[in-house]
Amino acid sequence: MSELRHPPGTFDVLPADSAPWEGLIRAFARVVEAAGYGLILTPTFEDLAVFKRVGESTDVVRKEMYDFEDKGGRHIALRPEMTASVARAFIQHRPPLPWKSWYAGSNFRYERPQAGRFREFHQVGIEAFGSADPDLDVEVMSLGWEFYTAAGITRRELLLNSLGDGTCRPAYRALLLAYLESHRDELCEEHQIRLEENPLRVLDCKKPACQKVVAGAPRQLDHLCDDCAAHFARVKNGLGALQIPYTVDSKLVRGLDYYTRTTFEYAGLGLESAQNALGGGGRYDGLVSAMGGPDTPGVGFALGVERILLAVEAEGGTDRLAAGRGLDVFVVDFGGSGGDAGRDLTALLRAAGLRADRAFDGRSPKAQFKAADRSGARLALVVGPDEAAGGTVAIKDLQTSADQVSVPVADVVAEVRQRLG
Ligand code: HAM
Repeated sequence: MSELRHPPGTFDVLPADSAPWEGLIRAFARVVEAAGYGLILTPTFEDLAVFKRVGESTDVVRKEMYDFEDKGGRHIALRPEMTASVARAFIQHRPPLPWKSWYAGSNFRYERPQAGRFREFHQVGIEAFGSADPDLDVEVMSLGWEFYTAAGITRRELLLNSLGDGTCRPAYRALLLAYLESHRDELCEEHQIRLEENPLRVLDCKKPACQKVVAGAPRQLDHLCDDCAAHFARVKNGLGALQIPYTVDSKLVRGLDYYTRTTFEYAGLGLESAQNALGGGGRYDGLVSAMGGPDTPGVGFALGVERILLAVEAEGGTDRLAAGRGLDVFVVDFGGSGGDAGRDLTALLRAAGLRADRAFDGRSPKAQFKAADRSGARLALVVGPDEAAGGTVAIKDLQTSADQVSVPVADVVAEVRQRLG
């Protein structure tokens, strides 16, 4: 039988490499919880209908969704993104407004795997429901910006656009469609066929043929209604007040169909263009009602964890994120108690809140010291025959060559704490 491996486009993160992941999620939680966002968990799979409004004209829904019939005959999809799931949870539970949540979890898209692009990938994100205030758009965008700073990513750019709303978008759509129809022959093959379905998708097309046509296309920004124009002006004003630099990009429609008004993306300037979308989001005032809920505005973003780690790596490494982890002590026991001393000492240390590990299987002193070194712990606590006879524990600093000292078992926790500072 051939060796079992993880499926294409997925990966394992082993404990030795997971510290930056943990650090990143902790840093994200710190930033958004300080602004009133609370953790939400939703299922990894949902009824297919939940993702309908993400966009039937989008690649995400049309080509990339993992969907199947389960054993009970339900049509299920692995979530390709989290916003629709959070909106579904909002509609189901109706929490009081405003309602602010944050999440961290994996998503599934059947894409062609490449650097920074996976079939199961991870996002952290926030969603805020219940306010149409443009200052909330600014809060959301600024939290993403602040998080990148906390993660050590300085080479990033905020791209900003407004897609209008139900008042001004239909007229713009008609105008855009008329323009694109007059250039239909010049569009890429897919958009020649699918143009009417959603002409805005052409703005997002990466094929040179479409991009050439789009360069001369009418811009939504020149056709915003008064309310959308005022909203956009206030968003720009708020970013200015917070001194967050941004670039207006009138072609930024994003790959999902639920957006209204503000859309934005964070681009990593240290990454290749195929993987430089570090995250993105926007306002989706029509999503909840389109999914059958009460008319409720919302705004949020999601950031790609794999992309963020690539960007952190490109800017000098992930050590900064990983800081603060690791074991305090490793217990080495060859005192002849049949493992009792090591077992009880480890329990004592853990109960006192110290991070402690130990060796098992009654291994030789040499093997246990080797394990202690490999564990990365600051200190080794050693119970040899002398310590066992005297009711003491020897403390050895694994990071300096300082002499080992022996202390009574009763004093061990206090002594370890003092040494760890
Ligand atoms: P999205 O732009 O589809 O937006 O995804 C957000 C981020 O997830 C991307 O910028 C990228 O960093 C990462 N990402 C997407 N696909 C992949 C992939 N195949 N492999 C690795 N990373 C990937 C959304 O998902 C929206 N739900 C964002 C949002 C929240 N809008 C409002 N609220």
